[in-house]
Amino acid sequence: MSFTVTIEPSARQFSVPQGGNILAAGIQAGISLPYGCKDGACGSCRCKKISGTVVQGEHQARALSPEDAANGFILTCCASAHSDIVLESRQVLDVGMPAVKKMPVRLMSAEKKAPDVMLLKLQLPQTETFEFRAGQYIDFLLKDGQKRSYSIANDKPQVQAVDDANTSALRFIELHVRHMPGGLFTDHLFHALKDKEIFRIEGPLGGFFLRPSDKPMIFLASGTGFAPIKALIEQVMTSSDEALKHRPIALYWGARTLADLYLFDWAQQTSIAWPQLRFIPVLSEPKAQDAWQGRTGWVHKAVLEDHPNLSGHQVYACGAPVMVDAARKDFMEQAQLSGDEFFADAFLSLADTPKNDAQAPK
Ligand SMILES: Cc1cc2nc3c(=O)[nH]c(=O)nc-3n(C[C@H](O)[C@H](O)[C@H](O)COP(=O)(O)OP(=O)(O)OC[C@H]3O[C@@H](n4cnc5c(N)ncnc54)[C@H](O)[C@@H]3O)c2cc1C
Ligand code: FES
Repeated sequence: MSFTVTIEPSARQFSVPQGGNILAAGIQAGISLPYGCKDGACGSCRCKKISGTVVQGEHQARALSPEDAANGFILTCCASAHSDIVLESRQVLDVGMPAVKKMPVRLMSAEKKAPDVMLLKLQLPQTETFEFRAGQYIDFLLKDGQKRSYSIANDKPQVQAVDDANTSALRFIELHVRHMPGGLFTDHLFHALKDKEIFRIEGPLGGFFLRPSDKPMIFLASGTGFAPIKALIEQVMTSSDEALKHRPIALYWGARTLADLYLFDWAQQTSIAWPQLRFIPVLSEPKAQDAWQGRTGWVHKAVLEDHPNLSGHQVYACGAPVMVDAARKDFMEQAQLSGDEFFADAFLSLADTPKNDAQAPK
């Protein structure tokens, strides 16, 4: 037996088996439901249930508070369907999403851009297509069913010629990975990576991508949260859509020290070449040797200082969960940003899983 899930106001519909996971069924059907961690931790998939019966699974209180749940909100990533359901999500588009695939990729290069940030280039299979929306991420499929997620830092697969005559080319994607000491996957990347190592990935995943609008955009990144933001910037710059090309963008990129803004020159040069992109770097703990003359403090606070009223903006935020949570809350409470105009991927790790949230409703 299966049920129908209807998303308003786009009226997009998909089926879900009785007791089946709502988000998984939506992704399978190519519906652009918003989501991030798929683990009840980030709150990106939170939406209002208009009607129907769902059972809400284990999640963190920061993703869905008891008050939100009492007001009819659900997390689709950990909710199962037990009748036909109508949900409200204004972030859903009426166009399909690229197919999610599993495939092998080969390490092309690994370059340290900061003491704890690695820029990886991964070669895609020549026999298979891999399409994605700028801003989406991939999962590395590890042993024992474990997965680790990383945002793609290009707007489309990049091409590199393999001979001078340009007779053949390799297609690759770029990732920016920060080392988390003691972390299963990043310890391997930083200490035991092999030349031309083969990985298995799944993707593209996630609902972090540009939505059509004529509003000016705030791009907000902390640390390697810059990866999908770089992809969005590339998308705007190479777009054939004149309206998109002319939307003003304010890029706020926060980190502790100057070295942590590992593609500072890229961001600065791009903002010079692309006048409607304003680049505002923000350091929270600049070192004396940085001789920093720019903005300091928390990056999302810099946005609020410059934009006390965000009601006419769209915000795309990515990086540390604490930054994303604070930005969502403060922008909505203090600067009148509509919750429907805040798009985010919070870089959650094992340390943020529901097991580690003492307040999580079960
Ligand atoms: C949608 C999404 C996109 C992401 N994109 C990026 C990206 O582009 N770049 C990037 O750098 N990261 C990104 N991340 C984060 C990334 O997926 C990993 O979580 C991160 O790299 C850590 O992986 P790891 O295997 O090295 O560490 P893990 O093994 O997951 O451990 C993480 C940290 O927690 C500690 N730890 C492990 N287990 C526990 C526990 N039970 N309790 C408390 N602490 C514990 C470890 O010592 C380590 O410091 C993204 C995450 C998401 C959800
Ligand atoms: S809480 Fe559902 S995707 Fe993160």
